[in-house]
Amino acid sequence: MKQVLVLNGPNLAQLGSREPDVYGSQTFDDLVEICRLTGRKLDLYVEVRQTNDEAELISWVHEAASARLPVVLNPAAFTHYSYALRDALAMRSAPLIEVHLSNPATREQFRHTSVVSGVADGTIAGFGLMSYQLALQAIAELAAVEEAAGEDTVSDGASP
Ligand code: DQA
Repeated sequence: MKQVLVLNGPNLAQLGSREPDVYGSQTFDDLVEICRLTGRKLDLYVEVRQTNDEAELISWVHEAASARLPVVLNPAAFTHYSYALRDALAMRSAPLIEVHLSNPATREQFRHTSVVSGVADGTIAGFGLMSYQLALQAIAELAAVEEAAGEDTVSDGASP
């Protein structure tokens, strides 16, 4: 079963009580549960983590790069200014999908810039917890395409 890391940046453990008008009333535990259930349906082993610490998040990104693990990432406020996180993500060795619960493009000006988008395969924003479900679906599709390409290479190599 393919393993996927779902990484979350600062203040996301406060979901439910944090600005519910923006982020909804579902909690971080709900987020974890939805990701696990979605993973089960897609035949993915999903591990969800959250940190308020930029250094810890970067070390998880290094871990994913070393182990060739796909990542679904909500960088939270780091999205808008962490060049260190972007540089770490540029070393990725598997698909990366950036997600946001809200749609930053419709919010304050400082949220209109993502320093992460340029190194991600794609971004899904504005769908609440469904953003994560859609991202996991994208990871599953990308993994299937990659697997099919690998099988082609193997069969090509085997043909005389
Ligand atoms: C967020 C959007 C960011 O601008 C904000 O700093 C967050 C959450 C989202 O999921 O909508 O912490 O990434």
